[in-house]
Amino acid sequence: MKGKIKGIILAGGTGSRLYPLTKVTNKHLLPVYNKPMIFYPLETLKKLGINDICIVSGGEHITDFIRLLGSGSEFEVKLTYKVQDGPKGIAHALLQAEEFVKKGEKATVILGDNIFEKVKVPLNVFSDKNAYIYLKEVEDPERFGVAKLSDSGEVIKILEKPKSPISKFAVTGLYIYPNDVFDFIKTLKPSQRGELEITDVNNWYLKQERLKVVFLDGFWSDAGTFESLLKATLFVANKMVVKGQE
Ligand code: DAU
Repeated sequence: MKGKIKGIILAGGTGSRLYPLTKVTNKHLLPVYNKPMIFYPLETLKKLGINDICIVSGGEHITDFIRLLGSGSEFEVKLTYKVQDGPKGIAHALLQAEEFVKKGEKATVILGDNIFEKVKVPLNVFSDKNAYIYLKEVEDPERFGVAKLSDSGEVIKILEKPKSPISKFAVTGLYIYPNDVFDFIKTLKPSQRGELEITDVNNWYLKQERLKVVFLDGFWSDAGTFESLLKATLFVANKMVVKGQE
């Protein structure tokens, strides 16, 4: 029997790398060309066939998301909202959606500042008990979680923002987790930067031999720095011109 997959968009954090743009508003409400940033992860989840979606953000901005997206009916999705009390890390933000994911369901988690051109649903995702990460080869891996791969393409380890790069494969902000992710997050301790790290979650699945990898084609970028926000904006703008949608 096919299990159900829910969607979670993580849209909290401080957005400090985009200061002062983020002094009074949330990063994920900033424009990427002609739409607020959060529209893109919403569309990505829809492309994956997911229409039951939870948005997690800080208490100071959650009502802005409700004003923008409402029940989700305009986007043909059903939206639920959860508050993260303080920017305590990506895994901590995910934990706030625990109630939203029922027993036996999986969660597709996307970072609110990640823009994907192409995504795909892994083959056995509905029937297995594995977690999935999506990798993309990049020129600046030191900005991301980075996966070291064996010759046969298996993940050996994942490091968060390694000083000396262990490979060019960035762990993008798209993950699929079984329901036991929440129990594991509750055992996590904050990292040196004081956050519950998603890389620790991924390494836990790796240790249990339950981590699968999907290699991505097409454009991918975060939009959390001035440079990457510009890159994402130019990508969307060019794509629209090519499509003749202007
Ligand atoms: O973009 C992919 C990268 O995202 C991964 O390669 C890294 O492994 C992962 O740690 C993350 O790195 P960043 O340094 O870019 O994470 P950042 O703090 O910018 O947070 C990314 C998103 O996660 C942000 O847009 C909203 C969400 N978030 C983050 C924090 C710290 C929350 O919802 N709550 C939080 O407390």
